[in-house]
Amino acid sequence: MNLPKLSPRLRCAAEVVRQGAYIADVGTDHAYLPIVLLSEGKICGGVVSDINEGPIARAKEHIGACGMTELLTAKRCDGLSELEEDHPEDIFILGMGGELIARILSDAPWTKAPSIRLILQPMTHPELLRRFLLSEGYSIVDEVLVKDEKIYQIICAEYSGIPQHRAYSELELLLGREPLRRGGPLCEELLAHWRDVLSVRLAGKQKAGSDASEEERLLKQIGELTK
Ligand SMILES: C[S@@+](CC[C@H](N)C(=O)[O-])C[C@H]1O[C@@H](n2cnc3c(N)ncnc32)[C@H](O)[C@@H]1O
Repeated sequence: MNLPKLSPRLRCAAEVVRQGAYIADVGTDHAYLPIVLLSEGKICGGVVSDINEGPIARAKEHIGACGMTELLTAKRCDGLSELEEDHPEDIFILGMGGELIARILSDAPWTKAPSIRLILQPMTHPELLRRFLLSEGYSIVDEVLVKDEKIYQIICAEYSGIPQHRAYSELELLLGREPLRRGGPLCEELLAHWRDVLSVRLAGKQKAGSDASEEERLLKQIGELTK
């Protein structure tokens, strides 16, 4: 099998891994990420998991075809439920909803170790994932935006034991503190996207007579940043 080529989203997540780490890739599907990282000498090995039979069979097939079965283990399981014994150092959970990523981490309290790095990419509800991480004592150590059809957020977190959710604004929970601080074209595009989404939500809630104070607050913060 020819080595797969990573999409810009997966490539961006791959850049955050620590050199020589033993990794876990949760919800791996095709296992392209660990296969490429191993072929590039960036990781020493890893364990991949997927809850579904089709994806884990596909992952095993690709790992075997690349001659990597000695270094990449594949397990069919829910999230991190069978991965503690593998002692992963860097844990990827990419391409799932923010709520599901938070649930997977919440079911694996052993990830609350300063030596473990989490590399996360929520497809939805990044604000719920950030709130979960920060209230549980994980610190967000880096965040990157990447465009790959749409704009994705990569969140890198490590356990510090210090809850910090109250120190973040609602806008920072939604878009990330670092991307907002750095600014740039992708951040501006994301702000414009959320301005549109929130404006539609606000109009809908106002029409229905329901509480739209969250949308009003967020739109005000976006307006202050983009004026
Ligand atoms: C959209 S794919 C993402 C694949 C890859 N991580 C990526 O970002 O390209 C989501 C994968 O997560 C798997 N998945 C969903 N829920 C899961 C869970 N609770 N535990 C492990 N894998 C799960 C699905 O079977 C699917 O293969």
